[in-house]
Amino acid sequence: MEIEIKGIHKSFAGTPALLPTDLKLRQGEFTTLLGPSGCGKTTLLRMIAGLEQPDGGEIYSAGKCIYSASKRTDVPAHKRQFGMVFQDFALWPHMTVFENVAFGLKAAKQYSGLKEKVTEALAMVRLQGMEDRYPHQLSGGQQQRVAFARAVAIRPALVLFDEPLSALDAVLREEMRVEMMSLVKDMGLTALYVTHDQIEAMSMSDEIVVMRKGEVLQRGTPESIYKAPSHPFVASFIGKSNWLEPERAMVRPEQVKWSRTSDDDRSYAATVRHVSYVGERYEIRLQVDGLDEWTVYSSKRATVQERVELYVSPESICWMQGADISSAVQQQPNLEPLALG
Ligand SMILES: Nc1ncnc2c1ncn2[C@@H]1O[C@H](COP(=O)(O)OP(=O)(O)OP(=O)(O)O)[C@@H](O)[C@H]1O
Ligand SMILES: [Mg+2]
Repeated sequence: MEIEIKGIHKSFAGTPALLPTDLKLRQGEFTTLLGPSGCGKTTLLRMIAGLEQPDGGEIYSAGKCIYSASKRTDVPAHKRQFGMVFQDFALWPHMTVFENVAFGLKAAKQYSGLKEKVTEALAMVRLQGMEDRYPHQLSGGQQQRVAFARAVAIRPALVLFDEPLSALDAVLREEMRVEMMSLVKDMGLTALYVTHDQIEAMSMSDEIVVMRKGEVLQRGTPESIYKAPSHPFVASFIGKSNWLEPERAMVRPEQVKWSRTSDDDRSYAATVRHVSYVGERYEIRLQVDGLDEWTVYSSKRATVQERVELYVSPESICWMQGADISSAVQQQPNLEPLALG
């Protein structure tokens, strides 16, 4: 179902947790809110779910107004037909797996075909035969699957995830990431996912919404956010960034070249500081003359303290929004090619 958020905002005791925010979640798409701790991700999610009252703005679900401060509309959480999966799973410890999933359906007032719906949801997450177990008799990954089954058994218009994998260890997290993403896709669900883990966001999402300090800085596909960040914070928060001009111009590590391929290339002298072998390549940290440290990749090992020359073609430079490209080019006259080692 399409969800539209218009100008939703919230303060706690006079301190803004979320500035007025617009957001559109397209039917069947997986959208991720990505940002550091305290930027307002959970606050936004809870307001969409109906668990937190906004200070103002409007929310529409499939064209129907479910919240509006000015129209005094506030559809209660259980009537919004949204599923939620939380970080701590929030399973009822005194209820069996079956009862936990059934609870979700009852809370949404879906009583007809209850047993079939629970069985179907548990089959989807491969937990057949575990209906009578209690949460403490399950592994972390299995508990997470129960929480997921409970959220999707109601066939929600939207499923909201708040850092659902952060309680799991790294291996399980990756496994569950793939599993949850394919379940969401197979069921054709519209999903809003909250994380501060950029790898999670990049690998799962159709669209990423990058937030900082209660504000959306940029939204777009994972590719566009990585390849064309428009804000210095986005550039630094997602992937590795090498700054050519602080806060203005940046290049990604894989775009930095070890030899000149065009007369237009900019060249940078640098000293190798650290070399780490990561299997398919070397990751090399360097101190660039007059600039901050860079990270670049190489198929060959470099030597610490070695002086090197790096090249960047103008097309691979990401300019931050507001950076004036023409004056920047003038300030940085095309550097003469330095002697090639
Ligand atoms: N009930 C509350 N009362 C007072 N302040 C709150 C409340 N809930 C959230 N805040 C504040 O609002 C801001 C946003 O919090 P929120 O929980 O939305 O952040 P978050 O992005 O989910 O962070 P995290 O990644 O740590 O979960 C924070 O400064 C937080 O301290
Ligand atoms: Mg949170």
